[in-house]
Amino acid sequence: MRSHLCGQLRDTHIGEEVSLCGWVHRRRDHGGVIFLDVRDYTGIVQVVYDPDTINAFALADQVRNEFVIQIEGRVRARDDEAVNPKMATGMIEVLGLELKILNRAETPPFQLDEYSSAGEDVRLRNRSIDLRRPEMQEKLRLRSEATHLVRNFLHEHGFVDIETPILTKATPEGARDYLVPSRVHPGNFYALPQSPQIFKQLLMMSGFDRYYQIARCFRDEDLRADRQPEFTQIDIEMSFVDQQEVMNLTEKMVRELFQKLIDVDLGEIPVIAYADAMQLYGSDRPDLRFGLPMLDVADLMKDVEFKVFSGPANDESCRVAALRLPGGDRLTRKNLDDYTKFVSIYGAKGLAYIRVNSLDEGTDGLQSPILKFLPEDVVKAILERVGAEVNDVIFFGADKTGIVNDALGALRNKLAEDLDLYERPWSSCWVVDFPMFEENDDGSMTAVHHPFTCPAGDLDRMEEDPLSASSLSYDLVINGYEVGGGSIRVHDPVMQQSIFRVLKLSDNEANIKFGFLLDALKYGAPPHGGLAFGMDRLVMLLSGSTAIRDVIAFPKTQTATCLLTAAPSEIEPEQLKELGIAVTVEKAEEE
Ligand code: AMO
Ligand code: AMP
Repeated sequence: MRSHLCGQLRDTHIGEEVSLCGWVHRRRDHGGVIFLDVRDYTGIVQVVYDPDTINAFALADQVRNEFVIQIEGRVRARDDEAVNPKMATGMIEVLGLELKILNRAETPPFQLDEYSSAGEDVRLRNRSIDLRRPEMQEKLRLRSEATHLVRNFLHEHGFVDIETPILTKATPEGARDYLVPSRVHPGNFYALPQSPQIFKQLLMMSGFDRYYQIARCFRDEDLRADRQPEFTQIDIEMSFVDQQEVMNLTEKMVRELFQKLIDVDLGEIPVIAYADAMQLYGSDRPDLRFGLPMLDVADLMKDVEFKVFSGPANDESCRVAALRLPGGDRLTRKNLDDYTKFVSIYGAKGLAYIRVNSLDEGTDGLQSPILKFLPEDVVKAILERVGAEVNDVIFFGADKTGIVNDALGALRNKLAEDLDLYERPWSSCWVVDFPMFEENDDGSMTAVHHPFTCPAGDLDRMEEDPLSASSLSYDLVINGYEVGGGSIRVHDPVMQQSIFRVLKLSDNEANIKFGFLLDALKYGAPPHGGLAFGMDRLVMLLSGSTAIRDVIAFPKTQTATCLLTAAPSEIEPEQLKELGIAVTVEKAEEE
């Protein structure tokens, strides 16, 4: 139907007769001459209809935005004053000779160039139109390039692409499962995989040596800009490897992605121990595009009268930390109040601060709601500890360690964003030596990564003191996003059982949940390990987006609904009956 693509016409085509197909991006009537901007996925070209091509002109007069048309015409140079250097096709235009309306369009719910005023819900409800926008086209095409590159890379490195089941049994990745009722076995349910974790380990036991899959994963968890209920992993597993080998190979792949797709050299990727990341940045996915480390000051606060500080300073489960913001004099009183409100989201009961107006006047040079509670020598020691300079604001957090880390860690990111403190556009790190377990509020244990992760030390010690055991696991972090995580796995059934004991999983429960894995471990499992990258997060970063929704063709909202199809939705009573299911909740309230 066409000889050329709209966005590819250049002055080398001048004089040629071309046929083009596309959408009417814009139509302008310039006193007797009609201009149509015609768009396809390669870009936009201007087509001009003169009244002397009577039929075509009459049709051009009828078309409206988003009509689908086919045109025939002759490429010609634009007049000097009409040249548009901002457009790839801006040197030329097409003199329209014929026009065929292939399809008409009602007025779209939003104009493509005014999408931002439409609101995301309107865009998602009309996603097919939203995806026509060049920006969205670019993002999804970049995603396709990324998948292609990943497949090539892994294929060249001997990985076998193997599909694993979607209708399966629960996989423990820490979220709730999406369940699918079985009609054939009423009262029984499949779970959608939170990841292909167990299957990829089984494939190592089957001798495939290197596996990969671009795998869809499903997790019923709280959603955020970088979390969707269904998302895509680049899932990788390798046999006869140690931690360093997995990290080296997967890092090489990510480097290639950034280099080849957006010409970015990720540079040296430092390796940071989990404990250090928490200590310095309050987070296991620190954004290292800027500094602002957190410093402990508990030892200085142990004897002060101010209980807000001395209480936590004398409590093992607590932390007192300071965060020095150079140039904090930019912050107004209102800013400081807003940041206090911000940290309260993370459970902080307040946000003490000291403004350093001058360093030569003792406490007279300082401004702070807590000065009156702190002896002068303590204040002096704090200033020295943090390396205070004039115009700094020093923030303080004192509470349970988790709260201080969450609150000051989040404040650190927020300050960098609000005040543009970024020193470099890209910064990545590996975070390693994660703890093996964490304690729940009720004293029970959960595996930090997943229960198939190999502990670093010996097993007896792990069982005696699970909370101090670390694991052979690693996360890759780019610009503060956890883009991937993995571990060396347990390949010894005795070790696996030891981990289940810490998790208080009885032999019987372990057998019901993971019997098929425990069985496979008995018959010669090779040492193995792997990692999974969040494909959506990688493409979000590669495309400069701020939410993974923008790099997923048909994403869900923050409340896990699909506005396009109106899923999830009720089903017919007959269907429920067939499945042996009774819905006991009242019809969900309309949102
Ligand atoms: P993990 O749970 O860390 O590990 O997941 C791996 C990566 O997947 C991405 N990710 C998500 N992306 C979007 N939406 C979500 N809801 C979401 N959840 C996770 C993150 C994360 O780093 N089986 C292990 C991997 C392994 O051990 O090999 C696993 O799933 O980028
Ligand atoms: P208060 O005595 O509660 O008015 O607090 C005095 C100052 O300490 C205020 O600036 C509070 O924001 C701050 N503050 C209170 N609790 C904490 C805390 N847990 N961590 C850090 N600062 C706090």
